[in-house]
Amino acid sequence: MATSLTIALTKGRILAETLPLLARAGIEPAEDIASSRKLVFDTNRDGVRLLVLRGSDVATYVQFGVADMGVAGKDGLMEHGGEDFYEPLDLGIARCRLMTAALTGVQAKPGRIRVATKYVNVARRYYAEQGRQADIVKLYGGMELAPVMALADEIVDIVDSGNTLRANGLEARELIANISSRLIINKGAFKTKYRVIQPLVDELKQAVVGD
Ligand code: PRP
Repeated sequence: MATSLTIALTKGRILAETLPLLARAGIEPAEDIASSRKLVFDTNRDGVRLLVLRGSDVATYVQFGVADMGVAGKDGLMEHGGEDFYEPLDLGIARCRLMTAALTGVQAKPGRIRVATKYVNVARRYYAEQGRQADIVKLYGGMELAPVMALADEIVDIVDSGNTLRANGLEARELIANISSRLIINKGAFKTKYRVIQPLVDELKQAVVGD
């Protein structure tokens, strides 16, 4: 019987860019993921199934070994932290930047500031490293509204085209990290399923280089 392998994928734009890479590595979902409400999918390969999750949950599924491997944005991985998985491959997809931002033209306030973000761990670390005192306010979306409504002085968020910032009268300030999607592998699974996982990592490497 084929070794079972569960791969956790991040839904949305990352998924759209992940599927062609997986296809080049010989793995294709048995049905169209985009038009389905299902969260788990069989593939053309015996024993290989795909989970379709929120990015912030991929690391959790892989950490607990429920998924053997996964694809998630570096932003979510930085926020999640954790030692239980390897991160062997930068897939080079869904590139963007994790940045601080504030109202356009408004000078950075001296002293203690308030920062709105869904990346509370990243923000806490970043402002501490900068030696700036910051109270972090957790939001779940639409961070750009927070400075406009004076809920926060700055935000920490993903910037891609910069359109969302501009549309709300904000400007990017400091780069925290360049972001792209990464392959992660549960450490235990990498040992026990090495013969299935290592060739797949090699094929994905080829698929990335072949871009
Ligand atoms: C992300 C991010 C920004 C926007 C940046 O939000 O939070 O709001 O994209 O992209 P841009 O620089 O090209 O405008 P997303 O639409 O993914 O939704 P989210 O708020 O649920 O994260």
